[in-house]
Amino acid sequence: MANLELNGIRKAYGATPVLDGVSLSMDAREFVAFLGPSGSGKSTLLRIIAGLETLDEGEVRLEGRRIDRLPPGDRGVAMVFQHYALYPHMSVRENMAFGLRNARVPKAEIEARVAEAARVLEIHEHLDKKPAQMSGGQRQRVAIGRAIVKPPKLFLLDEPLSNLDAALRMRTRIELAQLRSRVDAAFIMVTHDQAEAMTLADRVVVMNDRRIQQVGPPMEIYSRPANMFVARFVGSPAMTLAPVELVPGDGRYARVRLGDGAEVETRVARSELPAGGTLQVGLRPESVTVAANGAATTQAKVELVERLGERTLVYARLSDGAAITAEDEGYSRVQVGETIGLRIRGAAAHLFGADERGYHAEAQPE
Ligand SMILES: Nc1ncnc2c1ncn2[C@@H]1O[C@H](COP(=O)(O)OP(=O)(O)OP(=O)(O)O)[C@@H](O)[C@H]1O
Ligand SMILES: [Mg+2]
Repeated sequence: MANLELNGIRKAYGATPVLDGVSLSMDAREFVAFLGPSGSGKSTLLRIIAGLETLDEGEVRLEGRRIDRLPPGDRGVAMVFQHYALYPHMSVRENMAFGLRNARVPKAEIEARVAEAARVLEIHEHLDKKPAQMSGGQRQRVAIGRAIVKPPKLFLLDEPLSNLDAALRMRTRIELAQLRSRVDAAFIMVTHDQAEAMTLADRVVVMNDRRIQQVGPPMEIYSRPANMFVARFVGSPAMTLAPVELVPGDGRYARVRLGDGAEVETRVARSELPAGGTLQVGLRPESVTVAANGAATTQAKVELVERLGERTLVYARLSDGAAITAEDEGYSRVQVGETIGLRIRGAAAHLFGADERGYHAEAQPE
Protein backbone atom coordinates (compact mmCIF):
# COMPACT_ATOMS: atom_id res chain seq x y z
CA MET A 1 0.00 0.00 0.00
CA ALA A 2 1.24 3.48 -0.79
CA ASN A 3 2.37 5.31 2.29
CA LEU A 4 1.21 8.73 1.23
CA GLU A 5 -1.33 9.56 -1.42
CA LEU A 6 -2.25 12.99 -2.69
CA ASN A 7 -5.32 13.03 -4.91
CA GLY A 8 -6.33 16.03 -7.02
CA ILE A 9 -5.27 18.71 -4.57
CA ARG A 10 -6.42 22.22 -5.36
CA LYS A 11 -5.68 25.33 -3.37
CA ALA A 12 -6.22 29.04 -3.99
CA TYR A 13 -5.47 32.06 -1.84
CA GLY A 14 -8.42 34.30 -2.62
CA ALA A 15 -8.66 34.45 -6.41
CA THR A 16 -5.08 33.26 -6.93
CA PRO A 17 -4.73 29.53 -7.59
CA VAL A 18 -1.56 28.07 -6.05
CA LEU A 19 -2.04 24.32 -6.57
CA ASP A 20 -4.11 23.05 -9.45
CA GLY A 21 -4.82 19.33 -9.31
CA VAL A 22 -1.72 17.86 -7.66
CA SER A 23 -1.62 14.04 -7.34
CA LEU A 24 1.25 11.93 -6.08
CA SER A 25 1.71 8.49 -4.59
CA MET A 26 4.66 7.67 -2.34
CA ASP A 27 5.94 4.38 -0.96
CA ALA A 28 6.70 3.73 2.68
CA ARG A 29 10.35 4.67 3.39
CA GLU A 30 10.64 6.58 0.17
CA PHE A 31 12.56 9.88 0.09
CA VAL A 32 10.95 12.41 -2.24
CA ALA A 33 12.23 15.91 -2.96
CA PHE A 34 9.98 18.76 -4.12
CA LEU A 35 12.06 20.94 -6.41
CA GLY A 36 10.83 24.13 -8.03
CA PRO A 37 11.29 27.87 -8.30
CA SER A 38 10.22 30.30 -5.61
CA GLY A 39 6.44 30.62 -5.41
CA SER A 40 5.71 27.30 -7.13
CA GLY A 41 3.64 26.04 -4.18
CA LYS A 42 6.14 23.66 -2.55
CA SER A 43 5.67 24.93 1.00
CA THR A 44 1.92 25.22 0.54
CA LEU A 45 1.70 21.57 -0.50
CA LEU A 46 3.84 20.50 2.45
CA ARG A 47 1.72 22.54 4.85
CA ILE A 48 -1.42 20.94 3.45
CA ILE A 49 0.04 17.47 4.14
CA ALA A 50 1.06 18.57 7.65
CA GLY A 51 -2.36 20.07 8.39
CA LEU A 52 -1.15 23.65 8.79
CA GLU A 53 -3.10 24.71 5.73
CA THR A 54 -6.51 23.61 4.44
CA LEU A 55 -7.12 22.35 0.93
CA ASP A 56 -9.98 23.46 -1.30
CA GLU A 57 -10.37 20.15 -3.15
CA GLY A 58 -8.79 16.71 -3.12
CA GLU A 59 -7.58 14.41 -0.38
CA VAL A 60 -4.49 13.33 1.55
CA ARG A 61 -4.14 9.71 2.70
CA LEU A 62 -1.46 8.20 4.89
CA GLU A 63 -1.36 4.38 4.98
CA GLY A 64 -4.81 4.37 3.44
CA ARG A 65 -6.33 6.57 6.12
CA ARG A 66 -7.73 9.92 5.09
CA ILE A 67 -5.91 12.57 7.14
CA ASP A 68 -6.75 15.89 5.50
CA ARG A 69 -9.41 16.75 8.05
CA LEU A 70 -7.39 15.65 11.10
CA PRO A 71 -5.61 18.16 13.33
CA PRO A 72 -1.82 18.27 12.68
CA GLY A 73 -0.96 16.40 15.87
CA ASP A 74 -3.07 13.37 14.92
CA ARG A 75 -1.62 12.84 11.45
CA GLY A 76 1.58 10.95 12.25
CA VAL A 77 3.74 13.50 10.45
CA ALA A 78 6.55 15.73 11.72
CA MET A 79 7.48 18.96 10.00
CA VAL A 80 10.70 20.95 10.02
CA PHE A 81 10.01 24.45 8.79
CA GLN A 82 11.76 26.72 6.34
CA HIS A 83 11.49 29.35 9.07
CA TYR A 84 11.99 27.14 12.09
CA ALA A 85 9.94 28.08 15.11
CA LEU A 86 11.52 27.20 18.46
CA TYR A 87 10.07 28.11 21.83
CA PRO A 88 12.28 31.05 22.87
CA HIS A 89 11.80 30.64 26.63
CA MET A 90 12.79 26.97 26.64
CA SER A 91 16.29 25.54 26.50
CA VAL A 92 17.39 23.52 23.51
CA ARG A 93 16.93 20.35 25.57
CA GLU A 94 13.36 21.35 26.50
CA ASN A 95 12.57 22.31 22.93
CA MET A 96 13.62 18.89 21.72
CA ALA A 97 11.83 17.06 24.55
CA PHE A 98 8.60 19.02 24.28
CA GLY A 99 6.70 16.76 21.89
CA LEU A 100 7.79 13.65 23.77
CA ARG A 101 6.67 15.02 27.12
CA ASN A 102 3.29 15.84 25.62
CA ALA A 103 3.10 12.27 24.36
CA ARG A 104 3.90 11.05 27.92
CA VAL A 105 7.06 9.19 26.91
CA PRO A 106 8.94 8.04 30.06
CA LYS A 107 11.56 10.51 31.29
CA ALA A 108 14.59 8.23 30.88
CA GLU A 109 13.63 7.48 27.30
CA ILE A 110 13.16 11.19 26.53
CA GLU A 111 16.65 11.87 27.84
CA ALA A 112 18.16 9.08 25.80
CA ARG A 113 16.44 10.12 22.60
CA VAL A 114 17.34 13.81 23.01
CA ALA A 115 20.96 12.90 23.77
CA GLU A 116 21.17 10.70 20.68
CA ALA A 117 19.61 13.31 18.38
CA ALA A 118 21.88 16.03 19.82
CA ARG A 119 24.89 13.83 19.18
CA VAL A 120 23.87 13.11 15.59
CA LEU A 121 23.32 16.81 14.92
CA GLU A 122 26.37 17.97 16.90
CA ILE A 123 24.45 20.22 19.24
CA HIS A 124 25.11 18.25 22.44
CA GLU A 125 27.23 21.10 23.84
CA HIS A 126 24.36 23.55 23.43
CA LEU A 127 21.57 21.63 25.13
CA ASP A 128 21.25 24.08 28.01
CA LYS A 129 21.27 27.22 25.87
CA LYS A 130 18.21 29.18 24.82
CA PRO A 131 17.55 29.45 21.05
CA ALA A 132 18.51 33.15 21.09
CA GLN A 133 22.03 32.19 22.19
CA MET A 134 22.57 30.03 19.11
CA SER A 135 23.44 30.73 15.48
CA GLY A 136 20.89 30.28 12.68
CA GLY A 137 22.44 26.98 11.63
CA GLN A 138 22.44 25.63 15.17
CA ARG A 139 18.81 26.59 15.61
CA GLN A 140 17.97 24.86 12.36
CA ARG A 141 19.54 21.70 13.71
CA VAL A 142 17.50 21.95 16.89
CA ALA A 143 14.40 22.10 14.71
CA ILE A 144 15.52 18.96 12.88
CA GLY A 145 16.32 17.35 16.24
CA ARG A 146 12.83 18.01 17.48
CA ALA A 147 11.48 15.94 14.61
CA ILE A 148 14.10 13.19 14.94
CA VAL A 149 13.29 12.43 18.60
CA LYS A 150 9.72 11.50 17.82
CA PRO A 151 9.97 9.28 14.75
CA PRO A 152 6.85 9.87 12.70
CA LYS A 153 5.60 7.90 9.67
CA LEU A 154 6.38 10.84 7.47
CA PHE A 155 8.99 13.58 7.84
CA LEU A 156 8.21 16.86 6.11
CA LEU A 157 11.28 19.03 5.73
CA ASP A 158 10.93 22.51 4.27
CA GLU A 159 14.37 23.68 3.12
CA PRO A 160 15.93 22.20 6.25
CA LEU A 161 19.48 23.03 5.23
CA SER A 162 18.98 26.51 3.82
CA ASN A 163 20.38 28.39 6.81
CA LEU A 164 23.54 26.33 7.08
CA ASP A 165 26.95 27.31 5.70
CA ALA A 166 28.32 25.24 2.84
CA ALA A 167 30.41 22.81 4.91
CA LEU A 168 27.74 22.21 7.52
CA ARG A 169 25.15 21.89 4.80
CA MET A 170 27.14 19.09 3.24
CA ARG A 171 27.58 17.33 6.60
CA THR A 172 23.92 17.69 7.51
CA ARG A 173 23.00 16.38 4.08
CA ILE A 174 25.04 13.25 4.79
CA GLU A 175 23.45 13.02 8.24
CA LEU A 176 19.99 13.24 6.71
CA ALA A 177 20.90 10.37 4.38
CA GLN A 178 22.06 8.34 7.38
CA LEU A 179 19.04 9.29 9.46
CA ARG A 180 16.90 8.12 6.62
CA SER A 181 18.44 4.66 6.69
CA ARG A 182 17.91 4.39 10.46
CA VAL A 183 14.28 5.39 10.80
CA ASP A 184 11.27 3.59 9.46
CA ALA A 185 9.62 6.62 7.86
CA ALA A 186 9.09 8.33 4.53
CA PHE A 187 10.59 11.76 3.82
CA ILE A 188 9.48 14.72 1.78
CA MET A 189 12.02 17.49 1.50
CA VAL A 190 11.40 20.83 -0.18
CA THR A 191 14.45 22.40 -1.70
CA HIS A 192 15.67 24.95 -4.23
CA ASP A 193 18.94 23.11 -4.39
CA GLN A 194 19.16 20.59 -7.20
CA ALA A 195 22.26 18.91 -5.86
CA GLU A 196 20.46 18.30 -2.58
CA ALA A 197 17.42 16.89 -4.36
CA MET A 198 19.54 14.75 -6.69
CA THR A 199 21.74 13.28 -3.95
CA LEU A 200 19.12 12.60 -1.28
CA ALA A 201 15.94 11.70 -3.07
CA ASP A 202 14.72 8.41 -4.54
CA ARG A 203 12.40 10.48 -6.68
CA VAL A 204 12.30 14.16 -7.50
CA VAL A 205 9.01 16.01 -7.98
CA VAL A 206 9.55 19.08 -10.16
CA MET A 207 6.92 21.75 -9.54
CA ASN A 208 6.08 24.86 -11.52
CA ASP A 209 3.09 26.85 -12.52
CA ARG A 210 0.77 25.29 -9.86
CA ARG A 211 1.39 21.76 -11.13
CA ILE A 212 3.74 18.83 -10.92
CA GLN A 213 5.80 18.95 -14.11
CA GLN A 214 7.56 15.61 -13.72
CA VAL A 215 8.11 12.89 -11.13
CA GLY A 216 11.00 10.46 -11.43
CA PRO A 217 14.35 9.21 -10.16
CA PRO A 218 17.03 11.95 -10.28
CA MET A 219 18.81 10.64 -13.38
CA GLU A 220 15.56 10.23 -15.27
CA ILE A 221 14.65 13.85 -14.56
CA TYR A 222 18.09 14.83 -15.80
CA SER A 223 18.32 12.61 -18.85
CA ARG A 224 14.68 12.49 -19.96
CA PRO A 225 13.08 15.82 -19.01
CA ALA A 226 9.35 15.73 -19.73
CA ASN A 227 9.23 19.28 -21.03
CA MET A 228 11.28 22.42 -21.64
CA PHE A 229 10.69 23.76 -18.15
CA VAL A 230 12.23 20.69 -16.51
CA ALA A 231 15.02 20.66 -19.12
CA ARG A 232 15.96 24.26 -18.31
CA PHE A 233 15.42 24.06 -14.55
CA VAL A 234 17.41 20.91 -13.84
CA GLY A 235 21.13 20.89 -14.60
CA SER A 236 23.72 23.57 -14.16
CA PRO A 237 24.73 25.24 -16.36
CA ALA A 238 21.40 24.97 -18.11
CA MET A 239 20.78 22.88 -21.20
CA THR A 240 21.30 24.75 -24.47
CA LEU A 241 18.01 25.08 -26.37
CA ALA A 242 18.09 26.16 -30.00
CA PRO A 243 15.54 26.11 -32.83
CA VAL A 244 16.15 23.41 -35.44
CA GLU A 245 14.54 22.05 -38.58
CA LEU A 246 13.85 18.41 -39.16
CA VAL A 247 15.91 17.19 -42.17
CA PRO A 248 13.58 15.20 -44.42
CA GLY A 249 14.51 11.55 -44.76
CA ASP A 250 13.37 8.06 -43.96
CA GLY A 251 16.03 7.01 -41.41
CA ARG A 252 14.89 5.64 -38.07
CA TYR A 253 16.27 8.63 -36.18
CA ALA A 254 15.55 12.32 -36.53
CA ARG A 255 18.28 14.36 -38.21
CA VAL A 256 18.03 18.08 -37.45
CA ARG A 257 19.58 21.24 -38.89
CA LEU A 258 20.69 24.06 -36.58
CA GLY A 259 20.15 27.71 -37.54
CA ASP A 260 23.74 27.92 -38.83
CA GLY A 261 23.20 25.00 -41.19
CA ALA A 262 25.10 22.34 -39.19
CA GLU A 263 23.34 18.99 -39.02
CA VAL A 264 23.03 16.70 -36.02
CA GLU A 265 21.99 13.05 -36.14
CA THR A 266 19.95 12.37 -32.98
CA ARG A 267 18.81 9.06 -31.53
CA VAL A 268 15.25 10.31 -31.19
CA ALA A 269 12.87 8.14 -33.19
CA ARG A 270 11.45 10.11 -36.11
CA SER A 271 8.12 8.31 -35.69
CA GLU A 272 7.68 9.75 -32.18
CA LEU A 273 7.87 13.38 -33.22
CA PRO A 274 4.76 15.47 -33.83
CA ALA A 275 4.00 16.12 -37.50
CA GLY A 276 4.87 19.71 -38.48
CA GLY A 277 5.32 22.51 -35.96
CA THR A 278 8.54 23.99 -34.67
CA LEU A 279 11.29 21.95 -33.01
CA GLN A 280 14.05 22.84 -30.59
CA VAL A 281 17.13 20.82 -29.85
CA GLY A 282 18.32 20.46 -26.24
CA LEU A 283 22.03 19.88 -25.62
CA ARG A 284 23.62 19.41 -22.20
CA PRO A 285 27.02 21.13 -21.92
CA GLU A 286 28.75 17.74 -21.62
CA SER A 287 27.45 16.68 -25.03
CA VAL A 288 29.03 19.69 -26.77
CA THR A 289 32.83 19.68 -26.67
CA VAL A 290 35.54 21.88 -28.07
CA ALA A 291 37.05 20.05 -31.05
CA ALA A 292 39.71 20.41 -33.73
CA ASN A 293 38.33 21.46 -37.10
CA GLY A 294 38.29 17.99 -38.64
CA ALA A 295 36.13 16.61 -35.80
CA ALA A 296 33.85 19.61 -35.38
CA THR A 297 30.14 19.65 -36.14
CA THR A 298 30.01 23.43 -36.28
CA GLN A 299 31.83 26.68 -35.40
CA ALA A 300 31.04 29.17 -32.65
CA LYS A 301 32.40 32.45 -31.32
CA VAL A 302 33.45 32.35 -27.65
CA GLU A 303 31.81 34.89 -25.33
CA LEU A 304 32.80 33.66 -21.88
CA VAL A 305 35.20 31.09 -20.49
CA GLU A 306 34.55 29.69 -17.01
CA ARG A 307 37.38 27.65 -15.52
CA LEU A 308 36.10 25.22 -12.89
CA GLY A 309 39.34 23.33 -12.35
CA GLU A 310 38.55 19.84 -13.54
CA ARG A 311 36.76 21.17 -16.65
CA THR A 312 36.13 24.43 -18.43
CA LEU A 313 32.75 25.76 -19.54
CA VAL A 314 32.66 27.70 -22.77
CA TYR A 315 29.72 29.98 -23.55
CA ALA A 316 29.61 30.71 -27.26
CA ARG A 317 27.38 31.74 -30.16
CA LEU A 318 26.73 29.97 -33.43
CA SER A 319 26.92 32.04 -36.63
CA ASP A 320 23.14 32.56 -36.56
CA GLY A 321 23.39 34.06 -33.05
CA ALA A 322 22.06 31.05 -31.10
CA ALA A 323 23.73 30.66 -27.69
CA ILE A 324 25.44 27.34 -26.96
CA THR A 325 27.28 26.06 -23.89
CA ALA A 326 30.17 23.64 -24.35
CA GLU A 327 32.74 21.85 -22.23
CA ASP A 328 36.48 21.64 -22.56
CA GLU A 329 39.22 20.09 -20.44
CA GLY A 330 40.53 21.80 -17.30
CA TYR A 331 43.57 23.25 -19.07
CA SER A 332 41.57 24.75 -21.90
CA ARG A 333 43.35 27.10 -24.31
CA VAL A 334 40.10 28.65 -25.51
CA GLN A 335 40.08 32.47 -25.45
CA VAL A 336 37.20 34.93 -25.42
CA GLY A 337 36.55 36.31 -28.91
CA GLU A 338 38.02 33.43 -30.90
CA THR A 339 36.05 31.16 -33.19
CA ILE A 340 36.30 27.50 -32.23
CA GLY A 341 35.09 24.16 -33.51
CA LEU A 342 32.39 22.36 -31.50
CA ARG A 343 31.59 18.69 -31.69
CA ILE A 344 27.95 17.90 -30.90
CA ARG A 345 27.19 14.40 -29.64
CA GLY A 346 23.89 13.83 -31.39
CA ALA A 347 23.19 10.59 -29.51
CA ALA A 348 22.67 12.68 -26.36
CA ALA A 349 20.50 15.36 -27.98
CA HIS A 350 16.93 16.02 -26.85
CA LEU A 351 14.15 17.45 -29.00
CA PHE A 352 11.20 19.58 -27.89
CA GLY A 353 8.01 20.12 -29.86
CA ALA A 354 5.89 23.25 -30.21
CA ASP A 355 3.97 22.25 -27.07
CA GLU A 356 7.36 22.07 -25.24
CA ARG A 357 7.10 18.32 -24.70
CA GLY A 358 10.42 16.45 -24.63
CA TYR A 359 11.54 13.61 -26.94
CA HIS A 360 14.64 11.65 -26.03
CA ALA A 361 17.07 9.10 -27.37
CA GLU A 362 15.58 5.64 -27.69
CA ALA A 363 16.77 3.33 -24.96
CA GLN A 364 19.82 1.48 -26.30
CA PRO A 365 19.48 -2.29 -26.56
CA GLU A 366 21.57 -4.08 -23.90
N1 LIG B 1 -0.97 32.70 3.38
C1 LIG B 1 -0.91 33.08 2.09
N2 LIG B 1 -1.76 33.99 1.58
C2 LIG B 1 -1.74 34.35 0.28
N3 LIG B 1 -0.88 33.85 -0.62
C3 LIG B 1 0.01 32.95 -0.20
C4 LIG B 1 0.05 32.51 1.17
N4 LIG B 1 1.03 31.59 1.30
C5 LIG B 1 1.58 31.46 0.06
N5 LIG B 1 0.98 32.28 -0.84
C6 LIG B 1 1.30 32.37 -2.28
O1 LIG B 1 1.23 31.07 -2.81
C7 LIG B 1 2.27 30.84 -3.76
C8 LIG B 1 3.06 29.61 -3.37
O2 LIG B 1 3.74 29.86 -2.15
P1 LIG B 1 4.67 28.79 -1.46
O3 LIG B 1 5.12 29.36 -0.17
O4 LIG B 1 3.97 27.48 -1.44
O5 LIG B 1 5.88 28.73 -2.51
P2 LIG B 1 7.25 27.94 -2.42
O6 LIG B 1 7.30 27.08 -3.65
O7 LIG B 1 7.42 27.29 -1.11
O8 LIG B 1 8.31 29.13 -2.61
P3 LIG B 1 9.74 29.35 -1.88
O9 LIG B 1 10.69 28.50 -2.66
O10 LIG B 1 9.99 30.81 -2.12
O11 LIG B 1 9.64 28.99 -0.43
C9 LIG B 1 3.08 32.11 -3.80
O12 LIG B 1 2.69 32.85 -4.92
C10 LIG B 1 2.71 32.82 -2.52
O13 LIG B 1 2.80 34.21 -2.68
MG1 LIG C 1 8.72 27.62 0.53
